[in-house]
Amino acid sequence: MKITSIILAAGQGTRMKSDLPKVLHPVCGKPMVWHALQAARVVSEEVPVMIIGHGADGVRDVIGSAARFVVQAERLGTGHAVQQAESTLKGDADLVLVSQSDMPLLTGDTLSKLVETQKANSGPMTMLTIIADDPRGFGRIVRADDGSVKAIVEEADATDAEKAIKELNVGAYCFDADWLWGALAEVPLSAKGEYYLTDTVALAVEAGLRVEAITLENAVEAIGVNNRIHLAEAEAGMRSRVNRGHMLKGITLIDPASTYIGMDVEIGQDTVIQPNTFLRGETKIGEGCEIGPNTIIIDCEIGDRCEILSSVLEKAILEDNVDMGPFARLRKGAYLSKGVHMGNFGEVKDSHLGKGVKVGHFSYIGNATIGAETNIGAGTITCNYDGENKHHTKIGEDVFIGSDTMLVAPLEIGDRARTGAGAVVTKNVKEDTLAVGMPARSIKKLK
Ligand code: UD1
Ligand code: CA
Repeated sequence: MKITSIILAAGQGTRMKSDLPKVLHPVCGKPMVWHALQAARVVSEEVPVMIIGHGADGVRDVIGSAARFVVQAERLGTGHAVQQAESTLKGDADLVLVSQSDMPLLTGDTLSKLVETQKANSGPMTMLTIIADDPRGFGRIVRADDGSVKAIVEEADATDAEKAIKELNVGAYCFDADWLWGALAEVPLSAKGEYYLTDTVALAVEAGLRVEAITLENAVEAIGVNNRIHLAEAEAGMRSRVNRGHMLKGITLIDPASTYIGMDVEIGQDTVIQPNTFLRGETKIGEGCEIGPNTIIIDCEIGDRCEILSSVLEKAILEDNVDMGPFARLRKGAYLSKGVHMGNFGEVKDSHLGKGVKVGHFSYIGNATIGAETNIGAGTITCNYDGENKHHTKIGEDVFIGSDTMLVAPLEIGDRARTGAGAVVTKNVKEDTLAVGMPARSIKKLK
């Protein structure tokens, strides 16, 4: 049986009051429409059809080839939106799953249940409902005396009695495809001037066909985002889901409520995440690390048993047993080998630090390579930029750079060399040599 998803993503989302199309607003770092796509992909390997309109170009850019796009030029309602997929899917799908892109917490599991229920249904559709005290403007489910679904009434068209109904339409459906295309052609124009997908229910019931409904137990899944208050609710719901997933895999979160972990982050067992920590982007953290508090890590790869306290790291790689902070900053291209120690107020960018290198206090290391076991004294600066170009500093192994040394690049410091405190080094220093002064001159061969 061929199952294809249709994701509705053409609406403007006026109530968001935003220049950004609603479906591109991020939840835990990923646009809402991305979340909808992830759920739809659980159900079928067929590439989903996405109905786009408002902000279409932006949606295309974000989703790329993961969906087939159909443009709904005029936004004439959810029924009209689904109808736009007919020419793409007619004759090429047995079941059609329809979901909305403003429900980022709806899971693939729930969508699978819709499909399974519809497979067993003699009638043409299965829908998803929820029972809730706060109706949030959702359509109300009207049931017949025998308990079967009779209709969905939109809030704008509901009588007071209907408004009091606590069973609501979540907005995800599985349809028999052939029946759906026929039914959409019969959907009447609503008082609001839209063609409602929800009117297909009454059409089925009038024809004596059975509409199945399954009721969502986890209310969080039905958080639909129409304004920024809902967006914050969705963010909190997703954050909690992601955090629980990590805790169940053996990661300690001291305070999940103040731990912010992106959708693509991987963390190894027995790592402890302290409060007020943000892990974002394509970040991978190894086992047995201690991260935070007050730490931001974006797009980094971090080995096992690292300790990172109150620091900001972006696009950096750390091997095992690196310890850092408080107040260290790693920027793009920082590579810290095994056992590197970085203390407070250090910054490293586009540099390779060898095994066991120590940068204890107040240093800037940019465009440099530093050999194993070298010690960088407090206040050392690689003067890498001459106002036009960046230059490289190469420091050998077992070097001792004295406090407050200025290393004016391009520059090479040989293995086991030393510099005196306050040296301004403008010329290469050979191995086993001590250099002092301003500008520094090599004064004697060591050993
Ligand atoms: C819809 C349902 C309502 C349900 C609610 C749950 C209808 C008529 N009503 O109402 O019963 O309780 O969802 O969230 O379906 N869209 C298009 N093209 C359009 C109009 C909408 O693509 O012409 C898309 C939107 O981008 C959105 C989805 O369809 O992803 C739902 O539209 P929205 O206007 O948010 O419908 P609701 O009023 O929330
Ligand atoms: Ca909505």
